[in-house]
This record gives sequence, structure tokens and C-alpha cells, in this order.
Amino acid sequence: MCGIIGYIGPKSVVPILVEGLKKLEYRGYDSAGIAVVNGDQIQVRRVKGKISALEKSLDKAPLNGSYGVGHTRWATHGRPCEENAHPHQDCTGSLVVVHNGIIENYLPLKRKLKEEGHTFRTETDTEVIAHLVEKYFKGSLEKAVLHTVREIEGAYAIAVLSTQDKGKIVAVKSGPPAVVGLGEGEYFVSSDINPLLSHTQKIVFLEDEEMAVIEPQGVKFSDLEGNVLKKKVDQISWSPLMIEKRGFKHFMLKEIIEQPQVVRDTLQGRISLDSGKICLEETGISSKHLEKIAKVVIIACGTSYHAGLVGKCFIETLAQIPVDVEFASEYRYRDFILDEKALVIVISQSGETADSLAALRAVKEKNPLSLSICNVVNSSIARDTDGVLYTHAGPEIGVAATKTFSAQMAALALLALHLAQVKGRLDEKTRLSFIEDLLRIPHLMENILNQAESIEDLALKFISFSHFLYLGRWVNFPVALEGALKLKEISYIHAEGYPGGEMKHGPIALIDEKMPTMVIVPKDRVYDKMLSNISEIKTRAGYLLAVAFEDDKEIQDRVDKVIPIPPINPLFTPFLTTLPLQLFAYYIAAKRGADVDQPRNLAKSVTVE
Ligand code: M6R
Repeated sequence: MCGIIGYIGPKSVVPILVEGLKKLEYRGYDSAGIAVVNGDQIQVRRVKGKISALEKSLDKAPLNGSYGVGHTRWATHGRPCEENAHPHQDCTGSLVVVHNGIIENYLPLKRKLKEEGHTFRTETDTEVIAHLVEKYFKGSLEKAVLHTVREIEGAYAIAVLSTQDKGKIVAVKSGPPAVVGLGEGEYFVSSDINPLLSHTQKIVFLEDEEMAVIEPQGVKFSDLEGNVLKKKVDQISWSPLMIEKRGFKHFMLKEIIEQPQVVRDTLQGRISLDSGKICLEETGISSKHLEKIAKVVIIACGTSYHAGLVGKCFIETLAQIPVDVEFASEYRYRDFILDEKALVIVISQSGETADSLAALRAVKEKNPLSLSICNVVNSSIARDTDGVLYTHAGPEIGVAATKTFSAQMAALALLALHLAQVKGRLDEKTRLSFIEDLLRIPHLMENILNQAESIEDLALKFISFSHFLYLGRWVNFPVALEGALKLKEISYIHAEGYPGGEMKHGPIALIDEKMPTMVIVPKDRVYDKMLSNISEIKTRAGYLLAVAFEDDKEIQDRVDKVIPIPPINPLFTPFLTTLPLQLFAYYIAAKRGADVDQPRNLAKSVTVE
């Protein structure tokens, strides 16, 4: 939540900050602001709303400066309004701070600072940082910041500048991500690498409790005791083109269309066609360690949790290992039981989700083997686990996860086959046949995406409905959850995902002509059971849409409309059944004029609890 950026270098600072904020906007978008240093003055501009509102304000009344910081906000403490927008200033106006995170002890600090004579102008927790730095400033900004961070509790990535110690930006990370970009005579700090890619691919990832002092002549890194650190410089392979819309109306549509390639990229290099084996040594966890695993616990949030539920079916069927899937936000507070035979898998696109990270840290106290499935290289969760299996989805900008869901499922399918291999749970012929099925998936996904227009025509008939039910069973129950989540988060239509078998335990009461149901009904082990659900809905005048195999003639007479998908091994149907549901949600939301890429109240990376 929230994005921070800072730039110091010879180029014009305002366009760099504004362009950078646009690339961070998916992290939060209720207000935005920048501060630039011009001689002895700090010029601040803040607005309620998106970066486009900030741009308009800057067009009307431009700012000039030689270096500066910027922020895009997802409100936690204090309403989204101009006065609560960052950057925040101290009493003198000679210092500003931008902050991503939450200062948990801000109330007692604020009370004390007020008693000491500081004047507060906002409702935010962040403002205490500005006043603490002011309080401790004795000529060196970094020393004042070090003093300050010893007093604050919570999660923060901050960037601070002051005209009393000019020509530097001081950044500290403790929780939320912060990266430093090393360009040619220019330096950046940012919440993630996206804004930096068009300037440099040399990135330093700050660890928790680390500080960077960014100056025109270079960057100094230290811990919070002030000890100098030598940091590794990573060369990032993502290109700036990957975060462009490339002619699509929305990032979400572009990302849906990219899915066949994303699955190909995630599988690539991990299947040896010669030996028919899965090679996952790159994760850093050896087969010897995996052989001992007797139980898997998957921890995640949102869409990643749904991928985990699909992964449970993959692992249970292929590797025959029991799997629990847990919401990170619940698991972290439970008295969970883990032993040395457990493998804990944390799934997170961003690798920064606060609940997933906290659950991982709680789990680590019990010492099980941990593996993450992440999309963002070097993210906190990726670094904190014993091993990491990266999804090669490229940057996902749309707030609604789409391509990363498919990439996570691909990673989980590989992992399930790998576990089956190391534990000797599948004979070679069966394993090879699953591998062949897996490799056919990208091509079959393309077939479905070629029908996007007809899915659009269908979706447009449903734009004025207020409620939807999604039903699936077994491996497609998580797809029902994901289809409902996509619809509600981008179109604001109420939707529920349910396992088909649970319908008669409550949700059936909702069925009438105003509540359409999307049934996911490929020919699999629960097909007949889904047909019973379909009859029960029909009897109650419910409108039925079905995602079903294209060669399934029987379903045609039983539902009102079929969205066909090519037949495939039933276990892997989620790769295909998901796509029509994503497109269906997308077209409804786009037609309703919703802000598809940045739905209200959401942020891409949920770095607060
Ligand atoms: O980055 P993560 O995968 O940990 O994020 C988890 C959820 O916040 C995320 O999937 C969220 O539910 C999306 N809005 C779903 O589209």
C-alpha cells in the first residue's frame, strides 16, 4: 500500500517523480504528492485523487527543483484528502517525509511531541516522523533519521529530505519494500523496481533495518547502528516495455491475453524433455530434503490463496501428500502445529503481503522447511523462505491478479510433479503423460482467448445484474471463488463462489431469475454431481451459464448458455476454466465504466495488516 519515490541527479526532477508515481499508482491511488528542493526552499504539491490530478495541478502551476521525493497513497490513518496526502512536513517546513506503512505508536508520540510544542497539521501517523526528525536534527539528516527510527514502532519504508542538510535523500526500510536504483550519475529510491526500469536496471534491494543515504555522487548503505554495509547490486531482467499497455485499453486485458506465454515461461527450463523429469533444484531446496516431507501447508491471501487451493488438488492427486491451505491472516494468529516433516509454501505475487510475511515469520519459529512461490524477484517473502520458485509472469500492473494466478498454478503443477518424482509416487508413464498435458496448456489457452469477442457479447448481457453465484467442485471450486472475486473486485457486483455440494446448505435460497449462476462443469469426476446442481437451479428459475468442454453435447440442453473450452486432463482444467471467467468479469466491469486497473478501495500490494 502506498508508493514512495525519490530522485537525485542532473535531470529535471518533477517529470521523473510524476512518471515514477504513475508506475507505482497500482499500490494506492487516493491522493498523491511531491516535494522538490529549489535552492533553500522545499516546494510541495499534494492533491486528493490520482496521479492525473497531480499532473493537472502541476501543469497549471509548475514546480521546479533539483531533487525530490513523491508519494501515492492508500489511506490507513486519516481520510484521503489533500491535507493528509504525503509528503508531510515538520514545523519549520524545511523537511519532508514520504512513508509507506503504519506507525503503530504514533498516538503517544504525537501527544508527547505536541506537549513539546510541535504543531500537527494532519490526521496521519506519518507526520510524527517529520516532527521526530526535526526534534533530533543537529546538522546531519541521517543521524536525525537514525534517532527517529529508534522511537517509532510499526512498518515503514521512508524517504526524507531537508534543506538544512541539502543534497541528500535518506531512506530506511523496516517492513515494506524499498529499492535503490543506481543510474549513471543519478540515483533513485522507490517502493519497487517499476519506476526505475526506464532509467537503470542496476538495483539494490534494501533489507529490513537498513538505511541508504542517496547523494549526487553515490549511495551509502548502513544498518540502523550506522555501520557501513556493502550491498549487492542486482541486474534486473525486466524491461521497461513490460510495464506498458501496448495498445490494450487496460493492463488487465493485456495481462489476461499474456497468460499462454506466462505459463510457457513458468514451465520453461524446468522440465527435461529428455529424461521426462521436473528439475527444481534452482529453488535451493534439494530432493533429499523434499523426500522427507509428509505434509504440506500452503499459506496465502486473495487470489494467491485460490491458487493454493488448486495446488492442494495437484499435490494430493499427483504426489499423494496431505495438504492444508490457510489464509495467512488467520493462520498467523492460530496455535498451529508443524513439525520437521512439514513443507510450508507461501504463495504471493508481490512477495510483500503483510499477512503472508507475518505468517511466514511465525511459521519459521517452528523451523519447518519453507518455500515461496513469488513473482517479484528478491521480494521479502522470497528472501525469507528456504527456497523460492519464481513465477515468470513479468510485472503485473492491473490490481486484479490474472496472469500471476495462471503462473502460480503452473508453478504448483511443477512442484506437485516434482514431489511425486522425489517420493516415487507416480510411475514414469503416468508422470510423462501429465507432463505432456501440462505442456499442451498454453496452446489450449490461446484457443479460449481467441473467443474473447463472443465472451464479451455474452458479458454485456449481464452488466445490470447485481448478484452472481459461481459454482464448482474439486479442482474447479477454487476457480469458482476466483471468478467471483474477479467480478466483485473490478465491477463491484456482488458475487459468491461456492462448492457445488454446499449449495443446498444455504445459497440455494438466493436463487431466482435475478441471480444468474456460472457453473464450471468440465467432464471430470464430479461432472454428474454438477449436473444435479444445475437441475436444482433450473427448477428454481435460475439463469445458468456454464463453462464446459466443447464436445459436451449433454450440457447444451441443460443450461442457458455454454462457454466452450477444449477438453484437457480434468486435473488441469483450472488453467482453462479460469480464462472465460476473467474475461467475463473484465468486459462487464469495462462496460460499466469501472476503473478496471485500479478498483476503488484496493491496492496491488497489501503491505499493511
Ligand atoms: O501479492 P499477493 O499475491 O500476496 O497478494 C494477495 C492478494 O492481495 C491479491 O491476490 C488480491 O486478492 C488481488 N486483488 C486479487 O485480484
